[in-house]
Amino acid sequence: MTVPDLQRYKHEKKKIIVVTAYDALFARLLEEAGIEAILVGDSLGVVVQGKPNTLAVTMEDMLYHTTLVAGTAHKSLVIGDMPFMSYQASKEDALRNAGRFLKAGAHAIKLEGGAAMADRVKAMTEVGIPVIGHLGMTPQSVNQYGGYKVQGKGNDQAKAIVSDAQGLEEAGAIAIVLEAIPAPLAQSITERLTIPTIGIGAGPHCDGQVLVLYDLLGMFDDFVPKFVKPYAHLKADALQALRRYKEEVEQGKFPSDSESYH
Ligand code: KIV
Repeated sequence: MTVPDLQRYKHEKKKIIVVTAYDALFARLLEEAGIEAILVGDSLGVVVQGKPNTLAVTMEDMLYHTTLVAGTAHKSLVIGDMPFMSYQASKEDALRNAGRFLKAGAHAIKLEGGAAMADRVKAMTEVGIPVIGHLGMTPQSVNQYGGYKVQGKGNDQAKAIVSDAQGLEEAGAIAIVLEAIPAPLAQSITERLTIPTIGIGAGPHCDGQVLVLYDLLGMFDDFVPKFVKPYAHLKADALQALRRYKEEVEQGKFPSDSESYH
């Protein structure tokens, strides 16, 4: 998948499927499964680094994981997620840091925020850095929300998100992630925009969907939002395997003759 394919998929009403990945093994697995777009999300702060939110993630963390994914995924669109304070302080910071993602192998970057970020989106677009916006419940603003809460419920909030989406499109964004907003609002935005919307907790009418890999695989259950559907239960499988291994070593059943050299 390439950047222009996103637009084509919207035009052809073909769903855009995005999953996050943070390492080479899973990047390869995603490609084998036919997932065409991989987001190296700053969600790695929570699911890989074990932090309570994404705020502590650094550019160095993101570039390291982007290199692992981009070095392995040869067919997919790789999207690098700009971490907190890598683009908020100034347009210059934003531009320089976005460029570092492309040097690390990403094909596009994602950043959170609406109207306030339009100048960053425009500047990046002008120098050839494709930008994906992110609106609704933007995790880097968790402290402002007082927790991870659905956004866009009231009329004023909904109008502001619509206007932000239009502003990002005008600034040159190639797509917009809509997170944790009411499905009818996401539908209305999807119908108004010419660029695709990619939903996570934004109902079925978006042009595409994105999920955090470890949520999708049932590996992370510290906090499971309503919008997550675990398609596997790998945490339970892993626990069972680890407990069996421990038990068999304790009982002298592993290694057996077939796992031993003679
Ligand atoms: O960091 C991330 O994984 C994300 C997705 C939840 C969209 O931003």
